[in-house]
Amino acid sequence: MRRPLNVVILGASGSIGTQALDVIDRHPDRFRVFGLVTGKRALDREARYTATAVDPDCEARTEEMVTHPECDLVLVAIPGARALPPTLAALRAHKKVALATKEVLVMAGDLVMELARHSQDAIRPVDSEHSAIWQCLWGEHLDSVSRLVLTATGGPFWSRPALDLASVTLEQALEHPRWSMGPKVTIDSATMMNKALETIEAHHLFGLPLERIAVLIHPQAIVHSLVEFVDGSAKAQLGNPDMRLPIAVALSYPDRLPDAVPPTAFEAVGPLEFHRLDEERFPAVRLAREAALRRGGYPAVLNAANEAAVDSFQAGEIGFGEIVGLVESALAAFPGGGSSMQDILEADRWARDYVRSRVGIYKR
Ligand SMILES: NC(=O)c1ccc[n+]([C@@H]2O[C@H](COP(=O)([O-])OP(=O)(O)OC[C@H]3O[C@@H](n4cnc5c(N)ncnc54)[C@H](OP(=O)(O)O)[C@@H]3O)[C@@H](O)[C@H]2O)c1
Repeated sequence: MRRPLNVVILGASGSIGTQALDVIDRHPDRFRVFGLVTGKRALDREARYTATAVDPDCEARTEEMVTHPECDLVLVAIPGARALPPTLAALRAHKKVALATKEVLVMAGDLVMELARHSQDAIRPVDSEHSAIWQCLWGEHLDSVSRLVLTATGGPFWSRPALDLASVTLEQALEHPRWSMGPKVTIDSATMMNKALETIEAHHLFGLPLERIAVLIHPQAIVHSLVEFVDGSAKAQLGNPDMRLPIAVALSYPDRLPDAVPPTAFEAVGPLEFHRLDEERFPAVRLAREAALRRGGYPAVLNAANEAAVDSFQAGEIGFGEIVGLVESALAAFPGGGSSMQDILEADRWARDYVRSRVGIYKR
């Protein structure tokens, strides 16, 4: 009999982390919690290893658990650039990585995918759109794919074209119409930076050029993404929005877990709409494509400038409408650089300093 899979969860107290614990707890025969890492909140739960970001040795303990010979799979769900070092460590140790943190692939997609070559499922996407595409691609050849289509709900503001984005409050930006998520990804959904980051993520995960990755607004969030094939057909993965499904798919691949989520009552869903993305009002996806085409440190600048701008928005230092503008000006001002790990970390630091100095100018 197979022993249960030993799982480490990075970001165990967050939205993805707690839903992953729910999936694991319902299948004790298949999964065992091996390690738990949190930010400030300690979890009242048993695990072989635990660490919180406030522990002075948190980084070392995290590395020890994600590379431990008995660890089988690492679920990466810490928002932002800080998830990169433990993801790289896990891949170097040939662990399976269930990846929720899209920022990791945005910053260092080439380096991460190089380390993931040890197995075809070394990285299992948890983002619902990428999980949908991954599932649609099972049994298919990449040569048969013409286009990937990422769906986007449009966040809270797409359906309100008359709303002046400059006047949006933090409370409004945190009201996502379909998904309940952590604050950073919810604000990214409102600016469409989430879809921007996901475009770069899809490019690295599935190896398709950026011009063959499209975005469609789909407010109902039932179609989680689509793959179009050269013969004119398309496959989609559908279901009620519930992150426990992509988490379960990533943990149990190639099996499917019975009753991972309740089935969708399609007769009650109503009409499904698809709309073009207005790139004038929401320029984030265009910025991401441009940054990814320039390669080197540009995607890391996009990501870090966005993280710093979202922090400043949450701190009340800048308005909602300034977030994407700061990212655009950081990309324009970035002097460029190489694509080694050192260069990427330098680009990340440069972008954070740039945004902080610009926010300082606004505040004066
Ligand atoms: N939520 C979703 O539905 C969803 C969907 C797709 C992709 N994602 C991606 O998944 C990632 C996690 O999102 P989330 O919504 O779960 O975020 P979240 O609810 O804000 O949770 C973040 C988790 O990371 C922990 N954390 C924060 N800083 C840390 C640090 N320095 N070291 C270790 N742990 C730290 C937090 O701990 P504390 O609670 O103790 O601060 C918490 O456990 C993001 O990259 C997001 O884009 C999320």
